[in-house]
Amino acid sequence: MSHDTTIGLISGTGEEGRGIALRLAAAGLQIYLGSRSEEKALEGAKELNQVIGQNLILGADNHDLIEKCNILFLTIPFIYADAVLEKHRDQFKSHHVLVDVTVPVVFDKGPQLLDLEEGSGAEYIRQRVPSDTPIVAAFKTLPAHLLAEHHLTLDCDEFLCSDSKEAKEQVRSILEKIPTVRWIDGGPLKYCRALEAMTFLAIGINRRLKIKASRFQLLGLED
Ligand SMILES: NC(=O)c1ccc[n+]([C@@H]2O[C@H](COP(=O)([O-])OP(=O)(O)OC[C@H]3O[C@@H](n4cnc5c(N)ncnc54)[C@H](OP(=O)(O)O)[C@@H]3O)[C@@H](O)[C@H]2O)c1
Repeated sequence: MSHDTTIGLISGTGEEGRGIALRLAAAGLQIYLGSRSEEKALEGAKELNQVIGQNLILGADNHDLIEKCNILFLTIPFIYADAVLEKHRDQFKSHHVLVDVTVPVVFDKGPQLLDLEEGSGAEYIRQRVPSDTPIVAAFKTLPAHLLAEHHLTLDCDEFLCSDSKEAKEQVRSILEKIPTVRWIDGGPLKYCRALEAMTFLAIGINRRLKIKASRFQLLGLED
């Protein structure tokens, strides 16, 4: 990882963002937890630092966070992505990598996977961020509930998709510090349609079996 890598989670105060923040900090990485409200970010960072027993998580409002960090996780519900990306569009530059964690699922009489003209949530986001800011999809199938139990092993595979090999490797080098998860190259962003559908499937399975942490493992990689 390069010395000038600075990691931030845009509105990382929700369930998934907090889980990712805990796992990254537990791996020894310093990160910024973002929010639309600086106060909420500082409070969230304080709580998470207490959980891991170290002061590795710093709070910042989303605007400051994008200025300070170059690896930016987008950890908001998909339906707000358009508005949030529009608000910060002028801040995204070529030195940033936007890590898209969003899944285009809404809950209306049960989970529904949105049918998007762009193909996937990641491709929808690609079209709303300047073209010289690379997008990497990650964490799409990793459940917040399990991430938050940071002392538990993950014991699963997770997928990275990006149209930029360089950005994908940059993100991989960070995420490989999290133990017990194997990061698999899922190819370019066009495969996110399948990845997001896998999360939709896992949500349905969780609901039917009354569990919270179904996830994926791929067989045959060593063959
Ligand atoms: N939950 C999971 O297990 C899971 C698994 C894989 C992927 N994901 C994906 O991860 C993303 C985050 O999920 P989550 O469960 O963490 O979401 P969440 O808790 O519902 O919300 C995350 C954050 O989004 C911000 N937010 C809320 N309303 C907003 C609005 N109207 N406009 C702009 N920002 C708003 C809030 O941050 P501030 O108020 O601090 O700005 C909130 O803390 C989603 O896209 C989800 O599909 C979730």
